[in-house]
Order: sequence, then C-alpha cells, then structure tokens
Amino acid sequence: MEGLQLIATGGALPGRLVTNEDLSRVVDTSDEWIVSRTGIRQRHFCTVDQNAATLAIDAARQAVARSGLSPDQIDCCVCATLSGPCASPSVACQVQRALGLPEDRPALDVNAACSGFVYGATVARGLLATLGGRYALVIGCEALSRLMNMEDRSTCVLFGDGAGAAVFELAQGAVFAATLGACGDDAIRAGGPNLTGSSPIEMDGKAVFRFAVGALPRCLNTVLDETHLTLDELDWVVCHQANSRIIDHCVRHLGANPAKFYKNMDRHGNTSAASIPVALNEMVESGLLIPGQTVACVGFGGGLTWAGMLLQYKGAEQ
Ligand code: ACO
Repeated sequence: MEGLQLIATGGALPGRLVTNEDLSRVVDTSDEWIVSRTGIRQRHFCTVDQNAATLAIDAARQAVARSGLSPDQIDCCVCATLSGPCASPSVACQVQRALGLPEDRPALDVNAACSGFVYGATVARGLLATLGGRYALVIGCEALSRLMNMEDRSTCVLFGDGAGAAVFELAQGAVFAATLGACGDDAIRAGGPNLTGSSPIEMDGKAVFRFAVGALPRCLNTVLDETHLTLDELDWVVCHQANSRIIDHCVRHLGANPAKFYKNMDRHGNTSAASIPVALNEMVESGLLIPGQTVACVGFGGGLTWAGMLLQYKGAEQ
C-alpha cells in the first residue's frame, strides 16, 4: 500500500502581533484568564494587505523551495481553509497561479475546519493514487481575525491567523495511516453569508471541549493500531493547537510522555486548519523533527470533524 511521507515544510505568520494585554484593552478579559483557560499568550492577525491566500502563497513557496523540487513536479495542490478571501478562485488556485504549478494537475480547497490539514493531506493522497502522481503540496491557512466578533470575549481571545505548507511524497511501503470522521453539529459556526450580512465565529466552548477530549485519543489510537506502532515508539504527536488543557487532558488519559506532544498555542492561538502545518514547520526549523522520525497529527473541530494521520518525516533529497 502506498502512503505519504513528509518531504519539506514552509510557514507564514502575518504581521500584526496581538498579545492578551492588547485584547484586555478591547474586551473584558485578562491575561490571567486566557492563559489559565487556554495556554494562549499571543496571536498574529493579518494586516490590511494580507489574507489567507497571501499567507498560503508565502508558506507554499517556502515548502516547495525547501523540497528541492521544481514547481512542475508538484502533482496536486490542496488547500485547507475556512477563511479564504473569496470562495472562487479557491486559495489553491491562487497558489497554483502564484507558484506557476502545472495547469494539467488539480488544485482545490477543502473545508474541514481545524481538521482541514489532515483531511487535505488525505484528499491529496487519493488524488495522487487516482491520477498517478508522486508529489503533493498541501497547505493549511486561515485569516480567522476576519471572521471574529471582537466584542465577543468568549471567542475573540482564542483565534489567530497563519499558514503552514507541506510537500508530501507518495511512496510504496511508507509507514502511513489516516482516519477521518464527521458528525454534523452546530457547536462551532463560522463564516458564510447569513440574513444579517455577516457571520462571525460562534462556539459552544464546553461542548467542543468534551468532544475534543474524546476525539483526540480515539484518532491517535486508530492510527497507532493501523501502523502496529505503540505511543512509545512514535517520536511526536502534533495535535490541533486549540487549547493546552485539551492536550494535557489527553496526555493524562493516555498515560503518555507530555514532551512528545508539541505545543505552540502560547504564540499563535488557535489557527484552525493552519495549526498543524505551522507546528510541523516550526519543529523542522528548530531541529526537533528530524528525518527518519515518525509523527502523528490529530485534528478536531468545526463540522464537527476529526482526523488523524501517522507518517514519517523523510526530508528533502540533498
Ligand atoms: N475573559 C474573561 N472571562 C471570560 C472570557 C474571557 N475571554 N470568556 C468567557 N469568560 C467567562 C464566562 O462569561 C463565564 O463567566 P460566568 O461564570 O460568570 O458565566 C466564565 O468565564 C467561564 O466561561 P466558560 O465558557 O465556562 O469557560 P471555560 O472554562 O469552558 O473555557 C474555553 C472556555 C476556553 C472556550 C473552553 O471551553 C475551550 O477551550 N473549549 C474548546 C474550544 C476548541 O477546542 N475549539 C476548537 C475548534 S475551533 C474551530 O474548529 C474553528
């Protein structure tokens, strides 16, 4: 069976840094409340000339350059987002044009909220297998600041903007497993036109928390079982970075080593589909994730959706 291997990553963070202190001047909140409930200390918001597509293009360009491949070797481009600047052209098509990716290969967006990057990678794997390609460019990008009600303290403190990108290779015999699921539910609503003309993010935080602490270990155990690996044998777990308490809860539930569970929500907040690829890119850049290591990525979020993927970081050919 053919599976995906991670070849290279890229990332882009927008220019406006917003700390908890900054938010406490706009809504009735405090650094203490936000840090103790979520682990978030700051996030990046887009400047006026940035959006999810401009971030995606920057992250994608970096990932392709680091892969050592030329753009015409990329066989498909899948972008996960729920906050693109427009429904059409898709962000993936904007990336195709900006990077000069071949016109006879597919480019499309996937919306599975915070599970989007893993959904996108799995869609890309299917496209490669169906159409006969080898390399996929998968991006997660969000400009959630554009969907936020800055007067709603229960949501505006949680989210941030950013993009991460990955080049994957479809390889025979690769260590790989994926699991995806969905259960239609209104616990998180965001974006799209509504009767009053705007539709900011709304969330039943407690319901999402309960859902997440069930979905996360379930997805992780599924991909471990499928690859016949144990958590001890796995090098890294990269969960969607919504809330440090969700990850801590799962670490306790699984009796796992917390050092294996990468966290960066303190610096970026919840960047939905971007959170997993932004984390992977940081881990590669800082030398934490090294070629040959295995990593499980687990997403959960709006839809409701959940997704797990286990694969190896191969690195680029030197
Ligand atoms: N600052 C200060 N007080 C606040 C704030 C704030 N920013 N927000 C809410 N409060 C208050 C509430 O009004 C409430 O006050 P009350 O007791 O007087 O009524 C109190 O704090 C507790 O509020 P809760 O909502 O019960 O807080 P909770 O401990 O549940 O934490 C949180 C809220 C952080 C949102 C948590 O529920 C959570 O992380 N849920 C999961 C979110 C998630 O994972 N989302 C991922 C998917 S997102 C996507 O897919 C796009």
